[in-house]
Amino acid sequence: WVAPLAALVLGYLLGSIPFGVILTRLGGAGDLRTIGSGNIGATNVLRTGRKGLAAATMLLDGAKGGVAVLLCEWLFPGTALFAAAAAFLGHLYPVWLKFRGGKGVATLMGILLALHWPCGLVYAVVWLGLLGVLRISSVAGMAAAISAPVSAALFSRFDLVVLLLVLCLLVLFKHRENIDRLFSGTEPRLGRKHG
Ligand code: G3P
Repeated sequence: WVAPLAALVLGYLLGSIPFGVILTRLGGAGDLRTIGSGNIGATNVLRTGRKGLAAATMLLDGAKGGVAVLLCEWLFPGTALFAAAAAFLGHLYPVWLKFRGGKGVATLMGILLALHWPCGLVYAVVWLGLLGVLRISSVAGMAAAISAPVSAALFSRFDLVVLLLVLCLLVLFKHRENIDRLFSGTEPRLGRKHG
């Protein structure tokens, strides 16, 4: 049980690094949690008008998920799924931000690319494709999250399906305010201001 526990701790610590908050603060753009949707993800960083910071947030939030999986599997073989779950929960519920973290879309992509890259590729195509077409980040992110357990099943990676189903449901749960806004027609398009 030592290896799984170590993977849970290391995965959580990596996943809980709030890159959006850190980069926005370092870039002099204020406290991300008081801007736009208040979310700590790349979409909300974009609302500060700082495209470079938003791109860096997306890459780093994704990378921390991938690094957590690969590093833990390398250090403690057989713990990839523990690391994946812990990194994801670290991003959603970081102790440093009183457990008010992000929605998991970018982090899940990094995790998927590390666990089974073809699923990660499908996820990236669904996410970025819909983002380009619809320009509504929440819809693209939720669709990508739904694609994760589906593509794992289609690729016969049944060992991943249950975990990905749980992570997908958490992504949807974290988007409940976005879902309300979508139904009321007030969800802003990419880069637009809130409200
Ligand atoms: O990944 C988060 C995105 O799907 C929605 O972000 O700031 O519009 O709630 P936001």
